[in-house]
Amino acid sequence: MKDLNNRVAVVTGAGSGIGRAVALALATKGCRLALSDVNEVGLAETAEQCSIAEVRTYRLDVSDRDAIYAHAEQVASDFGQVNLVINNAGVALSCSVREMTDEDFKWIMDIDFWGVAHGTRAFLPHLIASGDGHVVNISSVFGLIGVPKQSAYNAAKFAVRGFTESLRQEMKLEKQPVAVSCVHPGGIRTNIANSARIGKSENADAQRKGFDKIAMTTPDKAANIIIRGILKNESRILVGPDAWGIDALNRVLGSAYQPLVERFSRKNLYI
Ligand SMILES: NC(=O)c1ccc[n+]([C@@H]2O[C@H](COP(=O)([O-])OP(=O)(O)OC[C@H]3O[C@@H](n4cnc5c(N)ncnc54)[C@H](O)[C@@H]3O)[C@@H](O)[C@H]2O)c1
Repeated sequence: MKDLNNRVAVVTGAGSGIGRAVALALATKGCRLALSDVNEVGLAETAEQCSIAEVRTYRLDVSDRDAIYAHAEQVASDFGQVNLVINNAGVALSCSVREMTDEDFKWIMDIDFWGVAHGTRAFLPHLIASGDGHVVNISSVFGLIGVPKQSAYNAAKFAVRGFTESLRQEMKLEKQPVAVSCVHPGGIRTNIANSARIGKSENADAQRKGFDKIAMTTPDKAANIIIRGILKNESRILVGPDAWGIDALNRVLGSAYQPLVERFSRKNLYI
């Protein structure tokens, strides 16, 4: 996809953060937008900010499989085609494996993994039918390396990466007209830490302050990097200098990155 003008773009989790910034950037590029979120107030604000474009909003909970499939049909019928799907909606959980409840584990997998998987599969026939489609799935740097107290988030984001990389190869081998990109943001200054679930023995305030300290990139900057990556058909879109650093660490050290993360965590997470 060399040009975004007049393309129909779907963005989940568009009511805040990266999803909102991507929606705004796509609006300026001439996209027609199908924006969704569970947070209807945030979603309405995003739609207002995107008013230079044709925008429709949908209340969608991405953990609801049947709702995603119904949404895909609705968007295709409302716009007549679908070119770009950005599976962005996500949540965070900070908790050790020992302390984590099954309910919290399921909550994050349902949104961060199954939301992406169903979002991809539900829209895929429409993207193929468009003759020029692109799936963009938002993973994380935590889809590249494992980190203490992020086991469930790690599991979801590694799963998104594996699923997405496999799909990209399938589309090429089958000569389908669908490009596929996996996005790995580093720390982006959004609301994610405020809406995160946190284990009973964690200090929520310290976690949020810690996140604010390390989140280096603004959502607008992240959106521009993601759109550039889409236009260049990158398989892996790294967002922010921290993401490039973590990716390099992983390539150079292999699994020997882990003692470095332990050292960082001893100072910052186990105090
Ligand atoms: N902010 C970061 O540092 C960072 C880093 C790496 C990856 N990410 C990923 O980026 C994506 C966007 O996160 P963000 O940082 O913009 O966070 P955010 O909290 O600002 O925005 C997330 C949006 O997703 C929506 N959402 C949550 N649960 C939903 C559900 N069940 N159905 C539909 N919408 C739902 C929220 O209402 C919110 O509007 C997530 O997948 C996140 O994991 C973020």
